[in-house]
Amino acid sequence: MLRVCVCVSGGGTNLQAIIDAIDNKVITNAEIVRVISNNKGVYALERAAAKNIDAVAISPKDFESREQFNEAFLKCVDEVEPDLIVLAGFLVVIPPMMIKKYERKIINIHPSLIPSFCGTGYYGLKVHEAALERGVKVTGATVHFVDEGTDTGPIILQKAVEVLPGDTPKELQQRVMEQAEWKILPQAINMIANGQI
Ligand code: GAR
Repeated sequence: MLRVCVCVSGGGTNLQAIIDAIDNKVITNAEIVRVISNNKGVYALERAAAKNIDAVAISPKDFESREQFNEAFLKCVDEVEPDLIVLAGFLVVIPPMMIKKYERKIINIHPSLIPSFCGTGYYGLKVHEAALERGVKVTGATVHFVDEGTDTGPIILQKAVEVLPGDTPKELQQRVMEQAEWKILPQAINMIANGQI
């Protein structure tokens, strides 16, 4: 069984997609051993609690320095001895120490077709605002391994999604989630859990 630690920051629809995929056996040989949120009181934590999954909120605001937060965050991950760390809408920069320790064991979902609309400052709705601003006709989502850069690690899966005339950022975000993110993130986890990557 692949031990998966999922890191979240908000609503947790991607976390839900992973939970559902495990329930429906779209993902096999994997279990979620912990959910970590950098924000207290977010809905993702309730999604974990509803399934009796161990869930921890650990906020940088509760620490005097970034280094102290990074240490506590790494400890929180280490405790559950994960085989895979999934950044499912996790909007915190991963400490370099952790990237080194978990090389090729951290994956991220990004809501665009990397290398478009990615890197520093491109997260959440901002990604879709930028795509609409540029006038692209196709966007999508990417699952990639995490390395020291921002959205620069090796790509595992991508899925394209059409941009429709008159789309608002929120409409586009919803379509990208439904048609791409909630599919390729579970798919990538299943591939890793079954030795296909
Ligand atoms: C998702 O769209 C995810 O791709 C994005 O945040 C959203 C989280 O939604 N992640 C990034 O932008 C990372 N750069 P969720 O909490 O409902 O899964």
